[in-house]
Amino acid sequence: MSQPPAPVRQAPPDYERSTSSRALAGTSVATAVWWWPISGVVQQADRALLQPSDHERLARIRTPARAAEFITSRARIRTILSEVLDVPPDVIELGRRRCPCCADPDHGPPMVLRPHTPLWIGISHTEGCGLLAVSDAPVGVDVERVRTVRTEELAPVALTRSEDGYLRTVPEGIARERAFLRMWTRKEAVLKAVGIGISTDLTAIETHPRSVGTARVVAGLPGAPHTWSVSDLSLPGPWVAAVARHDGRPGPVALHRAGARLLPGVASAGRT
Ligand SMILES: CC(C)(COP(=O)(O)OP(=O)(O)OC[C@H]1O[C@@H](n2cnc3c(N)ncnc32)[C@H](O)[C@@H]1OP(=O)(O)O)[C@@H](O)C(=O)NCCC(=O)NCCS
Repeated sequence: MSQPPAPVRQAPPDYERSTSSRALAGTSVATAVWWWPISGVVQQADRALLQPSDHERLARIRTPARAAEFITSRARIRTILSEVLDVPPDVIELGRRRCPCCADPDHGPPMVLRPHTPLWIGISHTEGCGLLAVSDAPVGVDVERVRTVRTEELAPVALTRSEDGYLRTVPEGIARERAFLRMWTRKEAVLKAVGIGISTDLTAIETHPRSVGTARVVAGLPGAPHTWSVSDLSLPGPWVAAVARHDGRPGPVALHRAGARLLPGVASAGRT
């Protein structure tokens, strides 16, 4: 994991100009989400796309599995953004917005620092799967692998009374764990769209689990709640995922597998 940083090529100055999205602008799609599989085996081509800041992060990751998840995801993110923003992948510089709660520059939502773009991004990765959301407004995504979850222990600290009541109607076992994770991903996606992450009382955020597909969820900074449109994402594997967008202009969501060709005007919630 301690390889020397790959050399950084200098970008021509015109990449500094504000660039709009080839994939989103001029289409009916306001938000696009890409997913990719993560095998645990690192491709050299993916490692070559890492930038110095990525190597610093990588040096702090303790397990090979998490390191592979990080390398694969950074490579996919750079490649997708390179196509969306129409610049070479090594021009893409990722960073963080200031935390909207405490203004700390280190733990706010992710953003594209370079090239300059008005687009917002959201990132999530878990065992076997990564996600990138790109939107023309604040956006959050979360993906969780379906697994054994101690729902009895977590429900009191994570669910509203109504969500807890719903969970008890779901048969114990994998169905209940999946139902819990669906509510969890809706909450985490919303809190990432707000920009604060899981730093608030989760039992105060109602995700309306009986609403199938899309729900309106209220969350925000203390004293400034906002309504978000949250859509479940249907991934072809053992994962549960959701994307949260500003409720004012949610528009359709396009879901792509990374590497699939970008199509202008793809259908709402379509999968490529
Ligand atoms: C952000 C957080 C929800 C990530 O959860 P996770 O399940 O560990 O990881 P995920 O894979 O789903 O998401 C990770 C991605 O979330 C994004 N992220 C991190 N902080 C974020 C924030 N505040 N808002 C939105 N997205 C954020 C990052 O892009 C990160 O990916 P990267 O590190 O590869 O760039 C979690 O780490 C958290 O809540 N942290 C605490 C945030 C905090 O301290 N807030 C204090 C406010 S004063």
